Amino acid sequence: MADKLIIFDTTLRDGEQSPGASMTKDEKLRIARQLERLKVDVIEAGFAASSNGDFDAVQLIANNIKDSTICSLSRANDRDIARAAEALKGANSARIHTFIATSALHMEKKLRMTPEQVLEQAKQSVRFARNLVADVEFSPEDGYRSDVDFLCRVLEAVINEGATTLNIPDTVGYAVPELYGNFIKTLRERVPNSDKAIWSVHCHNDLGMAVANSLAGVKIGGARQIECTINGLGERAGNCSLEEVVMAVRTRRDYFGLDLNIDPVHIVAASRMVSQTTGFVVQPNKAVVGANAFAHASGIHQDGVLKARDTYEIMRAEDVGWSANKIVLGKLSGRNAFKQRLQDLGVSLDSEQEINHAFAKFKELADRKSEIFDEDILALVSEESVAADNDEFAFVSLSQRSETGEKPSASIVFTVQGQEVKSESEGNGPVDASLKAIESHVKSGAEMVLYSVNAISGSTESQGEVTVRLQNSGRVVNGVGSDPDIVVASAKAYLSALNKLHSKADRVAAQG
Ligand code: KIV
Ligand code: ZN
Repeated sequence: MADKLIIFDTTLRDGEQSPGASMTKDEKLRIARQLERLKVDVIEAGFAASSNGDFDAVQLIANNIKDSTICSLSRANDRDIARAAEALKGANSARIHTFIATSALHMEKKLRMTPEQVLEQAKQSVRFARNLVADVEFSPEDGYRSDVDFLCRVLEAVINEGATTLNIPDTVGYAVPELYGNFIKTLRERVPNSDKAIWSVHCHNDLGMAVANSLAGVKIGGARQIECTINGLGERAGNCSLEEVVMAVRTRRDYFGLDLNIDPVHIVAASRMVSQTTGFVVQPNKAVVGANAFAHASGIHQDGVLKARDTYEIMRAEDVGWSANKIVLGKLSGRNAFKQRLQDLGVSLDSEQEINHAFAKFKELADRKSEIFDEDILALVSEESVAADNDEFAFVSLSQRSETGEKPSASIVFTVQGQEVKSESEGNGPVDASLKAIESHVKSGAEMVLYSVNAISGSTESQGEVTVRLQNSGRVVNGVGSDPDIVVASAKAYLSALNKLHSKADRVAAQG
């Protein structure tokens, strides 16, 4: 039997640390359910001690997700660890992931601690965590840039204290594959009790090598856990992308010789859900989940694929959840067909009431758009999941006027805490006028740092999906909206970002 490779997903923790990617606890639970469907082995649900919101999210996920191990990050101190254990109480299988920096740079400049103090704190925190849960992961932050002799001492000591997984982060994305692979190999060879723990890799993508480094850590170094995020979400250039490592290990099983639990057919829906929830758009040429990943535009390729698929395709689109028949439903489609399509797409709504609501939205959309694609359905369901009952603002209707030579203007109706308001403004274009109309009433003072429009299914008949990123008092949030009318999609995205600005609490940074 081949060895098993453990997939540890940290979309909800390291992924969420990306500025603007913060999620509500309900959004996190929905993504966690999708990760459970994907059969992810370990879900890092958050950093319980960082804020009350994160504690609640870890607790909610621990109480509801039963097939994956649920993990909380915690700094190497008793308070953080106790808080993580408390949040994880309801989990079937719980893991505490504690970390402390071990590179000379981080110890001296950030922690202002001596190596001996760091060693003692690492030991003491793993000992404390092991008294609370059986499954304890230890990470030496900035491990890849740490002195190898010191790192070996720390790792040997924490295994003696009961750490069950040792994770070696390339925190700043500095590694290159061969060197990182050999680094893990050296650690495993030099730490005398290395066989008592599972070795894990955690790579950031600053030089675009997170996936390659992680795979080298597995192949050369012998690691048996990879930490990764959906769409490679994460701070700066992001983390190792789950869909890429999973499909690399599956497609090249001849080379890696490893088994995975993952059910890849849920990958595209997971990618879509994370992108919609966070507003981080997936680039079209992104491996596995990009819109072009399986599109054969050149005549030679098309001809080849029609004659024999494997001339140009190394994976099957449907294996990762792209549907073969993309036109799915129209306005005559009934509730059962809609429900079936949701199931085929790997989306399960939590109640009949949610299905009814989504179906009503689908009918509204089908009245305005003759062909409904899978992407439309996924956008619609994600938008539903993002909208919360206690949202401060909600879109109602909009009219706008633009004509060559005239100043564009817009009039918008939206609700503020359930009360309808109407606001008007002029602007440089219809989108600008609409957003100014909202802002002139709300007066958020937020600065717009990103505005992007994406056609959900390719043509001008498709829905526009708009992302708006707002910044205010040091906080960055993303709002997403979709509609066949991109001015309406923009207004929805702006209101969604304002809702996020109004609802989030401050938190402690994981690497602060
Ligand atoms: O990148 C990193 O070092 C981390 C640790 C907290 C594990 O995310
Ligand atoms: Zn990280």
